[in-house]
This record gives sequence, structure tokens and C-alpha cells, in this order.
Amino acid sequence: MSPDTITLGRPDDWHLHLRDGAALRAVLPHTAERFARAIVMPNLKPPVTTTALAADYRRRILEARPTGSDFEPLMTLYLTDQTSPAEIDRACDSGFIHGCKLYPAGATTHSDSGVTDLARIEPVLARMAERGMVLQVHGEVTRDAVDVFDREARFIDELLAPLAARQPRLRIVFEHVTSRAAVEFVRGSRDGIAATLTPQHLLHNRNALFVGGLRPHFYCLPVLKTESDRAALLEAATSGDPRFFLGTDSAPHARHLKEHACGCAGMYSAHAALELYAEAFDSVGALDRLDGFAHRFGADFYGLPRNAGTVTLHRIRQDVPTSFHFGDGELVPMRAGERLAWTLQPKSATATAMRR
Ligand code: DOR
Ligand code: ZN
Repeated sequence: MSPDTITLGRPDDWHLHLRDGAALRAVLPHTAERFARAIVMPNLKPPVTTTALAADYRRRILEARPTGSDFEPLMTLYLTDQTSPAEIDRACDSGFIHGCKLYPAGATTHSDSGVTDLARIEPVLARMAERGMVLQVHGEVTRDAVDVFDREARFIDELLAPLAARQPRLRIVFEHVTSRAAVEFVRGSRDGIAATLTPQHLLHNRNALFVGGLRPHFYCLPVLKTESDRAALLEAATSGDPRFFLGTDSAPHARHLKEHACGCAGMYSAHAALELYAEAFDSVGALDRLDGFAHRFGADFYGLPRNAGTVTLHRIRQDVPTSFHFGDGELVPMRAGERLAWTLQPKSATATAMRR
């Protein structure tokens, strides 16, 4: 029998988009309520390409925290063809930058300044390996000729496997893996390679994009894959293998830019991230494995201390709002207008319970 209450060590989100300005202020409370820390993606416009820009962005995030929040943003740099090894040294020395993100140019939202050819950043990758800086990879090839659903698998064969072999000491997180091929790659790879998994790829397959019509709020990149892929991802997430850990890839876009003739890629899940992961783990009777996935494995991979404290989820239904305020616009969250099986115990209730 599955439990009705589950308490986890305070978790972290190892892949998150917080945006900036009013959008940042709109979404940060959802993450800060659930997670102690998050790896913050650098794909702003313009991108966060230097340690100085990351320091400024970090300050804006700290200022946007809800009163009393101790949420800690773990910053990243956006790699371009121009990134220098000296910039990697500055990032390592900063103490607040925990990874550098590889966006193949043109692969996804705000990736146009990304890397056009890995050969151009080989000295940067070598310096990262030397300094122990984590490389976070958006793993898709970008050529038009490659089928959208095959782009992750092709990336593994053409770029990621050779890179892992060329730089044997480079620590790599294969971000938001979406396919059985990616799970098999991580399982078969050398030490120092891990992967994050999103709630949407654990809970949905590509049919979700087409239920009764085109569903733009299920569009993210890499795109949802087949049921066989989803089953492989869920099996990996719930296996207790420490190479697979939580990264929501929560990626907010205003409603009018999602419900558009050329809709943006990205699903927003920060409002209910833990609740959604609990649903996925519960679906295969693996709630006892959620603590490793959400609290321990990511911290261990990044060489950071595990968080003190706990969060508790109850099997109490909650209704998801149809939208949230998002600056001047609206944000449609994952499962908008639907009911979730799990509810997070508010922090104040945790404090009360601890005082008793
Ligand atoms: O769906 C996505 N949205 N995938 C990404 O890689 C980027 C993200 C975003 O920033 O909106
Ligand atoms: Zn992302």
C-alpha cells in the first residue's frame, strides 16, 4: 500500500528557468516554497555569458525572493563560441557558479548565441574538466534534416559520446533526458555523467500534444517522446540509480506566446513540481525512492552539501489554477484547471508540527 504522507529531505531543482524582472518575481515564490536551491539556466536575452553578468543576475534573484525565504540560486554560464578559458577560471573562483550550459546554436528558446561547433570550445571544455566545473548539456542536434523526435539520440552518437571520451574528466549533466536512448547512454557511460528528468517527460508521452487538437502547453524541447521512452525514463528515475535526479526545466512563457501560430517551447511546472514528481513515482509504487531523486543524488553529483530540513507531501487533492499572473500577461501552468493527487504541506504547518 502506498503511503498517504511522504516526507523528503529538503529538495533542490537541478534545472530551472527563472527569467528576469516581473516574470522572475511571478515565478520565484513557487520554486522557493518547494526547493532550497536551484540550478538557474542562463538563457536570458541577452544571455548570461560572463561571471559579472551572473553576479548581477544572482543579485536580482536574491532581491526577488519572498520575505523570509532562504532560497539559494546556483548560477550557470551560457557557453558561446567566444567563451574563453579565463572566463571559466573566473566562474570557478566566484564560488556561486556551479555549471556552464551548452546550447547547440538554434536548438531551443534563446539558444541563437549558443555554440556552433564543439571544436570551437574544446579549450574551454578542457579547462572545465581541469577545474571540476560541471557541463550542462542541451542534447539535441539542430540540423533541419534530422527528424525532431530523433535529435536527442543523434546528439548522443554524434557529439556527446565522443565528447565524453575526448574529455574523460569532464563532469557532464545530460539535461532533461527524454528518450530510452539517453537512459541507456547514461547507464553505460563512464563515471561523472548524470542526467536530469522533468515531470512532464515522466508523466506524458507525445500523444499529449495532440489530444483532440493541438495542445501548445505540452510543447517543450526536447519534445515529448513515445510511451516506450516515457517508461524508460520513469524506470530510470525510480530505480534508485544516483545518476538520475530532479530537474524540472520549468520554463515559463506568457500565454499569448504559447497560444500562437509559432508557439514557444517550454512547460511551467514550478507551481506543483514536487506534487507532479510524487504522482509519477506513486504510479509505479516507488515513493520511497523520491528522496534520493529529489534530495540526495543531485547534491552529491555537484559536490554540494545535502540540505537540512524536510518537506512533506500529503495525498490530498489540490486544484491547479487555470492561470497565474505573469508580469503584464498570464502564465498557464502544467495541469491548469485540473486536479492533482498530492499537496505540499505549507512551511508554516511544518514549523507548527515541529514545535509540537
Ligand atoms: O522547452 C524548453 N524551454 N526547452 C529549453 O531547452 C528551453 C526552455 C526555455 O527557456 O523556455
Ligand atoms: Zn531548460
